[in-house]
Amino acid sequence: MRKFVFFGGKGGVGKTTMSSAYAVKCARAGVKTLLVSTDPAHSTRDVFDQEFTDTPAPVEGEPNLDAMEIDPETEVREHLMETKRAMSDQVSPAMVNEIDRQIEMAHQTPGAHESALFDRFIDVMRDSDEYDRVVFDTSPTGGTLRLLSLPEYLDGWIQRLLHKRKQSVKLFERAAIGNNEPRRMMEGDPIIARLEKRRDDFKFAKETLQDDAAFFLVVNPDELSIRETKRAVDKLEEYGLDVRGLAVNRLTPEPDPDEEGRGATFLRDRVKTEQERLRELREDLSPPLVAAIETRVAEVKGDFLGEVADEIEVDVELTPEKV
Ligand SMILES: Nc1ncnc2c1ncn2[C@@H]1O[C@H](COP(=O)(O)OP(=O)(O)OP(=O)(O)O)[C@@H](O)[C@H]1O
Ligand SMILES: [Mg+2]
Repeated sequence: MRKFVFFGGKGGVGKTTMSSAYAVKCARAGVKTLLVSTDPAHSTRDVFDQEFTDTPAPVEGEPNLDAMEIDPETEVREHLMETKRAMSDQVSPAMVNEIDRQIEMAHQTPGAHESALFDRFIDVMRDSDEYDRVVFDTSPTGGTLRLLSLPEYLDGWIQRLLHKRKQSVKLFERAAIGNNEPRRMMEGDPIIARLEKRRDDFKFAKETLQDDAAFFLVVNPDELSIRETKRAVDKLEEYGLDVRGLAVNRLTPEPDPDEEGRGATFLRDRVKTEQERLRELREDLSPPLVAAIETRVAEVKGDFLGEVADEIEVDVELTPEKV
């Protein structure tokens, strides 16, 4: 398996459950693992009965496992502060207020959330040398994936900007013979440096996600979830990402053959419907089924987590596939 593993899927299907179970599976096999959660509901705390923060910390009772929780709200706020700080260094004081307002507005848009989170993902991926595996309890969706085409876009933009600046520097030099101040300013231009950093970050993200990451989609055996999953597979593949498998969660357990009564009949009928959905999944989607997890009587934590971990057929060995 590749170093970075993502479990995506729509709300509530079991991403946190599956990624926690897979992280436990990796750790118990001796692979040094980091579990990264972006759940605003902090469900990783519930799974392990332990508080986590933005900094990786050991999971009690799992010697090879660390976990961290990224809070999307905090990320957006910090992103906002950072952008304001960077801009106020670069524009005249008179402009600062206007620009602040513009930046704040930009951060109200839905994409801001994804963008701030994605920046944090990039940091985590860059700083993950001490881990052999990093498991994310989410996967990039449409908006974030579009950011992957940013490097090319930024490249063109930076080139054009540099060209324009060079031209104006030339003109200035002609007018003020011997003054090479503008040239020096251009060489250390903070705006261009920032754009270049951004371009490099996204280039790194794109290469890492394409060459060193595997994606799994968690799906429930119902029509809505399956439809969403189809769309998600297409989107991920469109960006050259490797969708390794589908993890089916919340299957209805079958009653024993001698069980009678309404409850048993309901369960049998439900199982039949779900078998039909599973068939659809196998026929209509190319990634293979890597797990078929039944609904447990209670939330998946404690012993249940170990059980689910055993049922996920995703290998844990490290295969450095980066070429
Ligand atoms: N197979 C299962 N049996 C019983 N409970 C389950 C099962 N899978 C998940 N759950 C429970 O359902 C709830 C939602 O699961 P989980 O938090 O893993 O979903 P999620 O996809 O991460 O949700 P969100 O989109 O809100 O982050 C949790 O309380 C979890 O313990
Ligand atoms: Mg979750």
